[in-house]
Amino acid sequence: MSDLMKAVRERRSIRKFKSDAVPKELIDKIIEAGVFAASGRGKQAPIVIAVTNKAFRDKISDENRKIGGWDEGFDPFYGAPVILVVAAPVEIPTAVYDGSLTLGNMMLEAHDLGLGTCWIHRAREEFENGFGAEILKKAGISGDYIGVGHLALGYIDGEDPAVIPRRERRIFYID
Ligand SMILES: Cc1cc2nc3c(=O)[nH]c(=O)nc-3n(C[C@H](O)[C@H](O)[C@H](O)COP(=O)(O)O)c2cc1C
Repeated sequence: MSDLMKAVRERRSIRKFKSDAVPKELIDKIIEAGVFAASGRGKQAPIVIAVTNKAFRDKISDENRKIGGWDEGFDPFYGAPVILVVAAPVEIPTAVYDGSLTLGNMMLEAHDLGLGTCWIHRAREEFENGFGAEILKKAGISGDYIGVGHLALGYIDGEDPAVIPRRERRIFYID
């Protein structure tokens, strides 16, 4: 099995992270995998904002928690010390597809580097309710963006989850 296929098969969503910081060179490698994703018309439109500042990471978590309707104290990022926010300019028709592929690439690279990830949703709502503007401002970016998703990133606390067998009857051929 190729290394790539091994990562594709064995990557799982992680929902318990250690608080240990992730070295910047690893974060950079993961983001590099993201920005190398294919994109509609080759526009390379998605952006990735790496949030490691604890206070701001907690602020995003709290906003996400409120949108999700969870009680105070719940962390939808499961303790991950890094949040990678993926967004794309609103005028890009393939914004969500491009951003999703960016997230997928980053999940695989993180897994290959021995780190855990979980796609955390509700980025669209964050960007629609104005909170996204705060994230953009903090990163020094201006413009109108669609929030595509976040990646909770960090070292796995516990065992690697097992591979889940795939459902049947999802593949069809027309010969
Ligand atoms: C578009 C999308 C949104 C997701 N949102 C969340 C989320 O908000 N919180 C969460 O814990 N997991 C989220 N996940 C992770 C899925 O629950 C997970 O991928 C699925 O259960 C399959 O498990 P696996 O990733 O371990 O293969 C999301 C995944 C995708 C693709």
